[in-house]
Amino acid sequence: MQIGFGPIFHPMSPQAGAITGLFATVLLICAVILAIVIASVGYCVLRCREKAGAPEPEQIMGHRKLEVAWTAIPLAIVVFIFGLTAKVMSSSDPAANREPDLIVTAHQWWWDARYPAEGVRAANEIHIPTGKPVLVRLESADVIHDLWVPQLGRKIHAVPGHPNEIWLEADQPGTYLGACAEFCGAQHARMRFLVIAESPADFASWIQQQLQPAPANENVAAGQSRKIFQQFACMNCHAISGLSTNGTAGPDLTHLAGRQTLGAGATDNTPENLARWLKNPQAIKPGCLMPDFKLTDQQAHDLADFFETTK
Ligand code: CUA
Repeated sequence: MQIGFGPIFHPMSPQAGAITGLFATVLLICAVILAIVIASVGYCVLRCREKAGAPEPEQIMGHRKLEVAWTAIPLAIVVFIFGLTAKVMSSSDPAANREPDLIVTAHQWWWDARYPAEGVRAANEIHIPTGKPVLVRLESADVIHDLWVPQLGRKIHAVPGHPNEIWLEADQPGTYLGACAEFCGAQHARMRFLVIAESPADFASWIQQQLQPAPANENVAAGQSRKIFQQFACMNCHAISGLSTNGTAGPDLTHLAGRQTLGAGATDNTPENLARWLKNPQAIKPGCLMPDFKLTDQQAHDLADFFETTK
């Protein structure tokens, strides 16, 4: 997974731009305050130190003007930051005003993405068109998770039984790394996803491509791979359009080979890694819900060959 350094500091959406602007402003205010405090302490240390033979300095108890000043100035700063924050909140996180374009369900430890209007289902890769705010409804299938794409906007919790909404938008085509930002169990760290922003035309053709059943499925349907797929009950958890399997406990695998990673960012999606994953997912992502089916090397490779056809 090739992601540029420090993406957090390169906002790629109006929402993230507003948040980064607020962060920079608050940081600047804090830096000025820090400089004033350091300068004042430095002045006192150098200028007012005890000198041999000097008399006891004048002792002052209470100073109304100073006290008013050091109450009023911080209050003004806090009120200013409050106003700025309220403004950024309304621009970076406006209320949902329509049905969602995309429903993302967080699972231990992967992401299901459904496009209700188009009837498309994907996993761990969220495609969006550029230049258009996409309304995402975020749900959780089990525990509390948190969706965060630093370059595109705020964090938001996925709470079981309480859907939340967030706007995802990207100015430029690109691949933006997202992660779960709330500790949710053993593989919280391997609960990543990609937001792939494409031009509206490319997005439309991606949708069209996702609507197709996996191309080679019919050819292999009678083959060894399908037997393995059924023998090991893969379809109890996974859907593959074209194979009449519709399990939803695990990721939809119709276009698995077209994805960049396996196991929600656990490893790159290469034929070797896929065979390793099928052989024993627990070796790559210990604790994940996919069990070790004790496949032989041959079975793992047959199944991997089958999935390589599901672009
Ligand atoms: Cu899901 Cu952390």
